[in-house]
Amino acid sequence: MTDKKYCLILAAGDGKRMKSDKPKALAEVLFRPMIDWVLNSAERAGMDDIAVVVGSKKELLKAHLAKRGEYKTYTQTERRGTAHAVMMAKEFIKAAADDNADLFIAYADAPFTSSAVMLDSLAVHKSEDNDITVISANVPNPFGYGRIVRENGAFSAIVEEKDCTAQQRAITEINSGLYWFKPAKLLKCLDRISNDNANGEYYLTDAAALLAKRGVYVSEDDSVVLGANSRAQLADLNRMARDRVLERLLDEGAEIPLDDGIIITDEVVVGKDTVILPNTIIKGKTTIGAGCTIGPNSYIEDCVIGDNVKLNNVQAFKSSVDDDATVGPFVHLRAGTHLHNGVKIGDFVEVKNSEIGTKTSIAHLTYVGDSDVGKDVNFGCGCVTANYDGIDKFRTVIGDHAFIGCNTNLIAPVTVGENATTAAGSTITKDVPPDSLAVERGTTRIKENWEKNHRRIKKA
Ligand code: UD1
Ligand code: CA
Repeated sequence: MTDKKYCLILAAGDGKRMKSDKPKALAEVLFRPMIDWVLNSAERAGMDDIAVVVGSKKELLKAHLAKRGEYKTYTQTERRGTAHAVMMAKEFIKAAADDNADLFIAYADAPFTSSAVMLDSLAVHKSEDNDITVISANVPNPFGYGRIVRENGAFSAIVEEKDCTAQQRAITEINSGLYWFKPAKLLKCLDRISNDNANGEYYLTDAAALLAKRGVYVSEDDSVVLGANSRAQLADLNRMARDRVLERLLDEGAEIPLDDGIIITDEVVVGKDTVILPNTIIKGKTTIGAGCTIGPNSYIEDCVIGDNVKLNNVQAFKSSVDDDATVGPFVHLRAGTHLHNGVKIGDFVEVKNSEIGTKTSIAHLTYVGDSDVGKDVNFGCGCVTANYDGIDKFRTVIGDHAFIGCNTNLIAPVTVGENATTAAGSTITKDVPPDSLAVERGTTRIKENWEKNHRRIKKA
């Protein structure tokens, strides 16, 4: 054997118990398809080649894989069991054998497989010179899993729930569905696996009894064996994954007084003394600084947030918010938004693809899109940058210290110079030079005593 490692992931199953139109491998734990968890660990473990057996709803799965990277796929047209699925990838197993590699087989519906467990079990597999090394764990509720059967202490076979005797059913050590194989040995025994069992399927687990040198690696972390066959099990995995992230964040100094409705994904970084309030979802590649208050009721995805920032009832995507900014309530920060230090964004404001300069204030009922706004600018209530003419999008540029009066429409492309003011209610279609006032407004006409003859007053 060389130090080469190949990995085969089985993902052809129907996932009938999920009652979904998606393949089970794409069911999500913490917003990430289960197969991605397995692929991430396999890649972290440094697998030299990775292949996936697809079958049920394979177009969706293949499209997903293609978005991620280049993976070999093998198709299993009928669901005839895990060993049958492996047979579909014979070419891959042969290549592993030719390369003198070890072969790791994993199931796509068990997301908590870690790279550490992959590598630790490989060390055991190699040192014991096994044909097969099964990763097992002891769990409180083994129902539904294959049991690790030992005779006089020596591992003899894996028996599926449905095929267990009453005595075997009491065994709490279960098969994770993760194995290291010597590929040449696996190839030889695949044809000897029969479908003589309660399900009439070809079980990969039968390889354990057929191969001469079999070993078990008992994982101390029993979560690595947990799989999701149903929505209820998927919800359990979601809870476990979520709690793990929250525990890590608490350890790192975040403050989560109550975790109701809080979901944070595992790549997220949160600084010390940052408080996260209920009903807040933080996803993707998001970094949050120290001393912030995030939430309640916020949704933050792929954002970079500085220190001492307040986000209250905010939806933010692919944006950055610098130190001391205050945002909310009821604010939508769309992709490409950058709020500089000390910016204040108030209620019912949407900002898209814009730079908002230091200490600028956009306090109420305003849309700013495709704009470059300087520092210390004040927007009155109800301003709109009209950035789209139905065909193209244009930018609005606003200089430092400008004052945008209430209900100003800025028809882009347009520039408001430094220190300039737009009068309330103006629709600005021309560039406004620095230090000037732009007014675009009808004259107010007064008709005196008009109300005296008005029906409304007469009636009263
Ligand atoms: C399997 C194991 C069981 C183990 C458990 C761990 C077998 C026979 N049993 O049971 O010992 O405790 O996983 O979670 O292996 N698949 C295919 N083609 C098929 C059938 C399945 O690709 O024809 C794939 C599925 O997509 C899935 C994986 O293989 O990713 C496991 O299949 P599943 O039906 O979920 O097996 P379990 O009953 O969970
Ligand atoms: Ca399963």
